[in-house]
Amino acid sequence: MAERSLAVVILAAGQGTRMKSTLPKVLHRIGGRSLIEHVLDTAAALTPERIVAVVRHDRDRVSAAILNHAPDTVIVDQDEVPGTGRAVELALAALPTDFDGSVVVLSGDAPLVDGPSIDGLLDSHFAEQRDMTLLSALLDNPTGLGRILRDASGGMTGIVEEKDASDEQRLITEINGGIYVFAFRALARALADIDTNNAQGEKYLTDAASRILASGGGVEAVATTDPWVVAGVNDRAQLADAGRELNARIIRGHQRNGVTIVDPATTWIDADVSLASDVEILPGTFLHGATSVSTGSVIGPDTTLTDCEVGEGVRVRRSEATLAVFQAGAEIGPFAYIRPGTELGEGGKIGAFVEAKNARIGDGSKVPHLSYVGDVTVGEGSNIGAGTIVANYDGVNKHQTVVGDAVRIGSKNVLIAPVTIEDGTYTAAGTIVRKNVPAGALAMTVAPQRNLEGWVTENRQGTTSAAAAERAAQPATDSLNDTPHTT
Ligand code: UD1
Ligand code: CA
Repeated sequence: MAERSLAVVILAAGQGTRMKSTLPKVLHRIGGRSLIEHVLDTAAALTPERIVAVVRHDRDRVSAAILNHAPDTVIVDQDEVPGTGRAVELALAALPTDFDGSVVVLSGDAPLVDGPSIDGLLDSHFAEQRDMTLLSALLDNPTGLGRILRDASGGMTGIVEEKDASDEQRLITEINGGIYVFAFRALARALADIDTNNAQGEKYLTDAASRILASGGGVEAVATTDPWVVAGVNDRAQLADAGRELNARIIRGHQRNGVTIVDPATTWIDADVSLASDVEILPGTFLHGATSVSTGSVIGPDTTLTDCEVGEGVRVRRSEATLAVFQAGAEIGPFAYIRPGTELGEGGKIGAFVEAKNARIGDGSKVPHLSYVGDVTVGEGSNIGAGTIVANYDGVNKHQTVVGDAVRIGSKNVLIAPVTIEDGTYTAAGTIVRKNVPAGALAMTVAPQRNLEGWVTENRQGTTSAAAAERAAQPATDSLNDTPHTT
């Protein structure tokens, strides 16, 4: 349908008491985005003329979050009159004065509503030329929700809220999903007519149904086959349920696009993550934020990547990384901890029990074992020996370390920043590098080894070490006749 003049109203003024939180309900997050961000994205995908969000509780925080994510949103403050009807009434006043199109109403706390469901609702609405079409759902447990009222022939007659419903009405299992499309004029007329004479003393948007019907307009509830679309988040249990469902949907989407996800139950992937086909995700993996993974990479098990860029054919095992870039063929982990600003070149390695921060490690360079590399640039084809520490912090300031190409840093070095170790150098095991090392040099810390002969026998009498030393001191032929040693 080309000629749809559309406005979207998002209701976000409620307090969300049942969350028992200092954070406004709609700012709680699932799938890496706040609830309201999910709804704003769905609204934007409808390409409406205007999106209006109604706020009241913690309005500064909520409106800042909305404008940060969707700067073109028009923020409307709800006044003292409570209720969803009042919220929409005030939102209509923020539409262009000549607006005469359709108004889609969404709830800031129903994050799983999706574009196709709203498109289906709009198609039905226009095909039947109604004034109000809403999404309903048939629930085994409809407790707490508004019920759809129908006459004997199935025609809709109105909506009753749980708190206003009779015992008989509470048996109805068709509920109001809280997702609506209205003809602007019919809605405006109905809202002007709605009062607060109900159990909650609120101006109910749901009362528009009976008002529009009374004035001869068309109203229908269209039941969704997928009740998750209308699932609202009112408490932490529902937040977790919605989060799990969203995750399941995201995972299913990636699987359909050719990503192997071995165990969806222990894999969590944020909405903004992008995965190429033939990526493999092993159990216990969390992919957050704007993480992207190129084809052929295997991530996990037990790995958390946040805002990382992973090239082709990368292997990340049992590791955690934030704001890092791994080029093609790189190898990470197991048990690596990689902090922001780290870039690992093609075929490079950050191995077992290595912490990296702000480390740019060139193509083919390796930090294979038990090291800390921070504020460092390493060239290509270099190797940092096991147990090497880059001492980047002098207690007051952080300093840079530069390691060139094809460098061999020996085991257990300390590189004291700022220091430059030029191309093609070696450093001996245990070197404490305080001075720059010129290209091609071998650096070593000269501290000659002394052996104090007989020290253990004299100073540690009666120990297993002393006994072993005594045995070692005897001629080899005698030791064959020794009885087995016991302690
Ligand atoms: C509402 C519906 C109910 C439906 C349910 C679906 C009404 C009267 N009832 O009930 O029929 O089954 O949604 O989830 O509409 N809000 C405002 N201003 C207000 C009150 C609420 O903006 O004065 C916002 C809330 O922040 C929330 C949305 O409207 O995003 C729904 O409000 P809520 O109080 O959760 O309504 P329900 O009781 O769930
Ligand atoms: Ca609700």
